[in-house]
Amino acid sequence: MMKNFPLPRIDSDEEFRQLLLPYCRISKGEIWTDSSGMHKIGCLDAAEPSSIRNLIENDKASLAVHDPPYNFVAFEERKIAHFIDWCKAWVKNSYEAMTDDSSLYIWLGADQNNHYQPLADFILMMRNSGFDSRSFITMRNQRGYGTQKNWMSVRQELLYYTKGKPYFDVNSEYTGIPKVLKGYYKTVNGKETENLERSKSEFIRAGNVWIDIQQVFYRMEENVNGCYAQKPLKAIKRIILSSSRMNEIVLDFFSHSGTTLLSAEMTGRRCYTIDNDPVFCEITLRRLENYRNTGKTGWQNSNPFEDEILSDEKLFRYLKEKYNIANAQLKLGVME
Ligand SMILES: C[S@@+](CC[C@H](N)C(=O)[O-])C[C@H]1O[C@@H](n2cnc3c(N)ncnc32)[C@H](O)[C@@H]1O
Repeated sequence: MMKNFPLPRIDSDEEFRQLLLPYCRISKGEIWTDSSGMHKIGCLDAAEPSSIRNLIENDKASLAVHDPPYNFVAFEERKIAHFIDWCKAWVKNSYEAMTDDSSLYIWLGADQNNHYQPLADFILMMRNSGFDSRSFITMRNQRGYGTQKNWMSVRQELLYYTKGKPYFDVNSEYTGIPKVLKGYYKTVNGKETENLERSKSEFIRAGNVWIDIQQVFYRMEENVNGCYAQKPLKAIKRIILSSSRMNEIVLDFFSHSGTTLLSAEMTGRRCYTIDNDPVFCEITLRRLENYRNTGKTGWQNSNPFEDEILSDEKLFRYLKEKYNIANAQLKLGVME
């Protein structure tokens, strides 16, 4: 079967990561600044206060969107406590880098087989963070886990907190949530009608259940091969447009494929983002450059390191031997 997924998960193949490192322009501890002064990308640790101070300098962000890794958390009490301490550190760094009236969004999962960890403990920790709770958003995933007996867990949790009284606007990105319930029936002029045909709009009011966002998969232009946790641009644009104004700064401590930075570029906001892995910093930078040069939001049938793979014999041979990729398929960006 042909599979359109030319790169393996970079985070779980250390040898491959090492082969990519020479092509990464932002080394650990460094901060890249956009020549137009719009954005910054740092190869920094989110939990390290001095790194975040260096990143933010004299600026402040009016919005932060964070998507920390949590799948590595083993669900033992000690490890949970350790994870929560780590979260506390970067939440504090975020708080200090944000304006008095600002919004904080955090993507964090809940394991239903393990007392909804780590979300449950995280929510408790946030009580003493200085932020106020604002909304608990659910984004529906098209593909979930646990398809046994045709039942799927399809929720993605998104926590929304505020500091002071931030700007909030229901924008056009927010009003496309379609009606799915038929609702109640009513007889109009002797004919039985249902909700959907009576109302003028095919959309429901903007709210905290999002069922209209397609999860990123390999057929979408925005797909970034090699990234395993890419959030949809539509979701991040919705957050940015509703919780920030033009030219304001959006923070993201866990850049990965650079979705927040690209969304900020597309909506006229500035983005200060970091990732502690130089490979993901490079991917973030390439995603921005690729968008500015071609207007494309991702690599769909290719990948961010295509040129290097085709010109670097070692890299090419590694992928070919380890993943059994034929030359022609590699050139097309198609992996068998
Ligand atoms: C779940 S992914 C974020 C996905 C992102 N929202 C997107 O749409 O592509 C988490 C990222 O956090 C990075 N990371 C892990 N620990 C970090 C730390 N202490 N500081 C900064 N980044 C970190 C990982 O390298 C990974 O790329």
